[in-house]
This record gives sequence, structure tokens and C-alpha cells, in this order.
Amino acid sequence: MKRSEEIVYKTPAQLQGCRLAGEKAAEVLRIVCEAVRPGVSTKELDDFAARTMRALGCTSADFGYCGYPAQTCISVNDAVIHGVPRADLVLKDGDLVSVDVTIAFDGFVGDNARTVIVGEGTPETRAFVEHTEEALRAGIDAARAGNRVGDISHAVEVVANKYRLGIVREYVGHGCGVDMHEAPEIPNFGPSRRGPLLREGMVLCIEPMLTLGSRRIRTLADGWTVVTADGSLACHTEQMLAISPSGPAEILTPR
Ligand code: MF3
Ligand code: CO
Ligand code: CO
Repeated sequence: MKRSEEIVYKTPAQLQGCRLAGEKAAEVLRIVCEAVRPGVSTKELDDFAARTMRALGCTSADFGYCGYPAQTCISVNDAVIHGVPRADLVLKDGDLVSVDVTIAFDGFVGDNARTVIVGEGTPETRAFVEHTEEALRAGIDAARAGNRVGDISHAVEVVANKYRLGIVREYVGHGCGVDMHEAPEIPNFGPSRRGPLLREGMVLCIEPMLTLGSRRIRTLADGWTVVTADGSLACHTEQMLAISPSGPAEILTPR
């Protein structure tokens, strides 16, 4: 995926733009996740997301991005990310559904995702979702001025390893705000104390992509949907945040 090379350190005015975009993205994600239930197709969810965006005065940043054909990414079970919504993909009880919403509002981009279970799920899938959230929280906690990108990566990896989860390596978190994908790349693995220094003005998306089996992936014939090579379940969660002058990052996509 194309990414601008230079880190965009946001001015206070740009940060305010990112805040508003983040709030919209979070609101759309919340509303779409509430609509996840058995019998609904991922295409219906995508249409609902489009209507929700329109009602909130924002637009999809996904649609048309590198030719992406839908408003959101909805990735079910062995699909990790970039799931293209389909009328023939009808959700059923127990499915694991990653909803990833990226919106544009007033010249800024908000990006966030979470995985929800259709119905109750099993103890195993519930734990998987919780462990992926724990990995995200650990990454967020490491996202502080003075740390480095590698500290975020490493914090996510430690949690994934603790639960023996596969870590997808081909896709990463990223800077965000003016463009959907800005520098730096934020892998979900790697050594601490390496990579770009985190400082005030950076807006980042941290997004663990974890599996219950092999970390290997492949892309479906639609050219987008990324699935696990071994068919194992995948979980994805993402938040957008701004590095604070000191202390914890400011979450721009509140849940
Ligand atoms: N929301 C994704 C991310 O977290 C990117 C969407 S890819 C697109 O980086 F093609 F759908 F735009
Ligand atoms: Co996203
Ligand atoms: Co992202």
C-alpha cells in the first residue's frame, strides 16, 4: 500500500482536524458494529455504513483507494483485513467479524477497526478477541513521546506471544490524518528501542492483526481480501491516536 515517505507532524489545527475525523470514524464503527447480527450480509453492513457516513456528514476514505470497491472493510473468520463486503457473505452465529472504518471529514482521515463476535461466541473466540485488545492496549501504552516505534511493535508482540498467537507481518499500523497511510510504518513485532522517535504531533494507527494458527496469509481472487493461509481464525483491532507532549497518547477514536 502506498505511503507518504515523510512523517507529518501535525500542527494544533491539523490535530483538531484529526480529532474530528477520528470521532466520526469511531461513531460510524460503533453504529455498524451494533448492526452485526446473524442473517445480515457484509454488503448490507457496508451499505448501512455508507448511509451512516452520509448522515454524519463524512465520506468513506476506502472507496476508490487504490481502486478499493467498497465503503468499508469487513473481514470474517479466516479473513484478516481488507475483506470486500459481499451480498453472498451472510453472517451466522459465532462468526468473528472485523469491521474497519476509514472516513474523510473536512480534509482529514479517521481510521479504526474492531472485531466483534456474532452472538456469544465460544470461550476460545471470546478470549482471542480479548487478547487482541490486550495487545492493542499494550501498544497504545507504549505510544509515548520519547519512546520509539519499535517500543509499540515490541509491546504488541509480547502480548501476542504470551497467548501464542500468530502475528501477520505483511501488513502494519501507520501514520494517519492527512492521508490514510502516512509514515511511519508500525509493525506488530520487532525489537524495542528501534525505529523513529515518537514525539508530539504524530498521529498513528496501531492495528494488531493476529491469528489462532499460522501467521501466513494469502489474498483472495478479489485482489483485496487477506485470509490466513491455513484457514485459522484471525482477529484485527485498530485505534488512531495522537502522541502527547508527555504521558499517555490521546485516543482519537474513542470506543
Ligand atoms: N482501514 C485500512 C487500514 O487500517 C485501510 C483500508 S484499505 C482500503 O489501514 F483499500 F480499503 F482503503
Ligand atoms: Co483501518
Ligand atoms: Co489503519
